[in-house]
Amino acid sequence: MSFGPRSVVIKGTGSYTPANIKTNDDLAKIVDTSDEWIFTRTGIRERRIADDQENASDLGAKAAANALESAGLETQDIDLVIVATITPDMPFPSTACLIQTKLGIPNAVCMDIEAACSGFLYIMEVASSLLQSGRYRNALIVGTEKLSSILDWEDRTTCVLFGDGAGAAVLSLSDEPNVGVIDFKLGADGANGDVLYMPGGGCANPATPGSIDDRLHFLKMRGREVFKLAVKVMEQAATEILEQNGLESDQLACVIPHQANLRIIELLSSRLKIPMDRFFLNLDKYGNTSAASIPIALDEAYRAGRIKSGDLTLMVAFGAGLTWGAALVRC
Ligand SMILES: CC(C)(COP(=O)(O)OP(=O)(O)OC[C@H]1O[C@@H](n2cnc3c(N)ncnc32)[C@H](O)[C@@H]1OP(=O)(O)O)[C@@H](O)C(=O)NCCC(=O)NCCS
Repeated sequence: MSFGPRSVVIKGTGSYTPANIKTNDDLAKIVDTSDEWIFTRTGIRERRIADDQENASDLGAKAAANALESAGLETQDIDLVIVATITPDMPFPSTACLIQTKLGIPNAVCMDIEAACSGFLYIMEVASSLLQSGRYRNALIVGTEKLSSILDWEDRTTCVLFGDGAGAAVLSLSDEPNVGVIDFKLGADGANGDVLYMPGGGCANPATPGSIDDRLHFLKMRGREVFKLAVKVMEQAATEILEQNGLESDQLACVIPHQANLRIIELLSSRLKIPMDRFFLNLDKYGNTSAASIPIALDEAYRAGRIKSGDLTLMVAFGAGLTWGAALVRC
C-alpha cells in the first residue's frame, strides 16, 4: 500500500527526558537486584524519573515544542494533536488537550489513543490517514509517559524495566515524490491482555482503600510470556510489512525498535536477518518508556545522523493489549 497522490512526511521530531537519572545501582538500594542482573537480562543501565511536579503532559509539551521547532512550524499551523499514553495526567480531559493548552495551539482537534507501547505507531497511522483525508494540514503526534507513577517500587520484576520520557513528531502533507510514510501493519489480540496490565483505577476497580491495599494501581506483568509474544509478533509484523511492499530486509537503512529489552531486539535481528548495527538503540539510557520509546529513539536517530534523507526506515513495536505494529517510512 502506498498512500494517495500526496504523501505524509515526518517534518520534524523532538524528545524530552527528565533530568533525574536512576541507575541500576540506585535501584539495588530499593529492591533485591543488581546492576549485573538488570544489565545482562535487559541491556538497561539507567532510566529517567520525572519529579512530582512533572506530569505526562509536561514531558509531552516539551517534546512537542522541540518537534515544532525542528519542523519549522508555529503553533497556529497545527490542526490535529494526537497523544499516545498509558499514564495520562488524569482520565479526562485528554493529555492532548492539556498539551494543546500548554503550547498555546489555538485551533486543533485533540485526542488521546491508548495502545500501550505500540501507541506511537497507532497514532502515526491514525494521523497519517486523517491527513490523507485532506481535512487537516499538520498533525502533532506525541508519545509521553510517566511510568514511574504506576510502578510498584517493591516489585523487582517490573520496576527495573521502565522509565519516564516523551517523544513527538510533526506529520505533514507533501507534494515531494518518493518520500514519507509508505505503509503500516498494526495488530491486536485482546485475549492475551492479562500478561501485562494495570487492574486498578478504571470503573472495574475504582480507587478505594481496599484497591490500594491490594496494590491494584500498579503495572502487573508476566515477563517470560511477554518476552516470547514480543519476539513473535514483532517478527511477524516486520516480515509482513516488508513482503507486502516487495522489499527485502537488506534494503532497510535503519530500524527503530520499541526499546523494551536488548535480548528481544537481538532475537528480532537474527530472525529478520538484519544486522544489529542497523538497529538504533538507546534503552541502556532510558529503559522502556512505552509509547514514548519509538519517538524518543526516532528523534535521537535523526539528530545523531543515523537516519539520512531518503533512508528506508522500519519502526516496530509491541505492547500491552496485546498490541503491535510496524511502520515503513522513506525519511
Ligand atoms: C522481565 C525479564 C527481564 C525477566 O527475565 P527472565 O530471564 O525471564 O527472568 P525470570 O522472570 O525467569 O526470573 C529469573 C529469576 O530472577 C529473579 N528476578 C526477577 N527480577 C529480578 C531483578 N530485578 N533482580 C534480580 N532478580 C530478579 C526472579 O525472581 C527469578 O528468580 P527465581 O529463579 O529464584 O524464581 C524478561 O522476562 C523480559 O524482559 N520480559 C519482557 C518484558 C517486557 O519487555 N515488558 C514490556 C513489554 S512492552
